[in-house]
Amino acid sequence: MVEVSIIGGSGFVGGELLRLLLFHPEVTVKQVTSETHKGKFVKSIRPHLRQVTDIKFSSVANLQSCDTIFLALPHGRSFGLIQHVIESCNNVIDLSADYRLRSEKEYERWYGEKHLFPELLRRFVYGIPELYRKDMSKSNLVSSAGCNATASILALHPIFQEIGDQVRDVVIDVKVGSSEGGKSYNQASHHPIRAGSLRSYKPVMHRHSAEINQELFSTDRSVYFSATSTNIVRGLLATSQVLLEDSVSEKDVWKMFRKHYSSEPFIRLVNDKQGLFRYPDPKTLAGSNFCDIGFASDPDNNRLVVISAIDNLMKGAAGQAVQAFNIMHSYDEVTGLQFPGLYPV
Ligand SMILES: NC(=O)c1ccc[n+]([C@@H]2O[C@H](COP(=O)([O-])OP(=O)(O)OC[C@H]3O[C@@H](n4cnc5c(N)ncnc54)[C@H](OP(=O)(O)O)[C@@H]3O)[C@@H](O)[C@H]2O)c1
Repeated sequence: MVEVSIIGGSGFVGGELLRLLLFHPEVTVKQVTSETHKGKFVKSIRPHLRQVTDIKFSSVANLQSCDTIFLALPHGRSFGLIQHVIESCNNVIDLSADYRLRSEKEYERWYGEKHLFPELLRRFVYGIPELYRKDMSKSNLVSSAGCNATASILALHPIFQEIGDQVRDVVIDVKVGSSEGGKSYNQASHHPIRAGSLRSYKPVMHRHSAEINQELFSTDRSVYFSATSTNIVRGLLATSQVLLEDSVSEKDVWKMFRKHYSSEPFIRLVNDKQGLFRYPDPKTLAGSNFCDIGFASDPDNNRLVVISAIDNLMKGAAGQAVQAFNIMHSYDEVTGLQFPGLYPV
């Protein structure tokens, strides 16, 4: 059995990591940290884990060595302990944005501060398994990708690989659930204010644009990315408008997606011509590690619309990190991740 610990275990992502890792057949969970709840039973704030675990929260001050450490901390909070965890644990999987960008300059531009460990930016593997499976299998440092970035990149990767030279512009609109913001709340996220609202929260300069640009373009180009908050708790839907030099047939798009994803265990092409579920819907993905992708071609306007959906806490965070963990340990990639989600929910 492999010993793992979760830093930031009282957060939404840390909580999902714990739920998954407690049922992973190769894993023993050693420590789960929270500064606010240290000493308390995890189940005291995770009622769905009653009778599942008697583990208590500990403090990062009492961190012990383990095989793999999952860092689920807010942006910038890993800097105080990253050197220590790299020295004391065999593998580190970070779920924040701290090590996702390879360029120090880009990090400064998007996060407004100097990176304290720029040498690590080149050592961490960007954590989308479908793109970096081979690198992950040889690395002990993985930086899990952002949730909006994951859905957008997976939707666009085959298009950029196959007809990237035909792409004029890409406009991505992501509709996100409230759990994307983490467990902290403010006046704007207070239930009576937020419930029922549809709020444009980041029409420009969303930080995930930096990751998407990094993974799709080799030159200094940018996608046009906007994010809108919706009334759901889990899940996100990314609608990517790809403006092309020429039209592309849906048959050719099918071929591109099949070429890249036909053997991917967590990608499903969803493009039914009839029925209720013709395109991806995050509601059908709650709790699962799948990314559903659909598309529609608009030949009159040389436009292709790609629609992708994930559970932000699963394929967008904890699930994808466990997928990376499996790859790093040469376990079957789907181990501990086969839950298909709930329907209806
Ligand atoms: N939410 C998502 O959908 C999502 C998706 C992908 C990636 N991410 C990224 O994953 C990370 C965690 O997100 P989240 O939504 O789980 O956030 P969250 O709900 O706010 O949880 C943050 C966790 O970090 C702990 N923490 C905060 N400051 C700390 C410090 N200085 N020292 C030690 N522990 C500290 C908190 O513990 P206590 O407050 O209990 O002490 C809590 O356990 C973020 O970087 C986020 O950007 C989130």
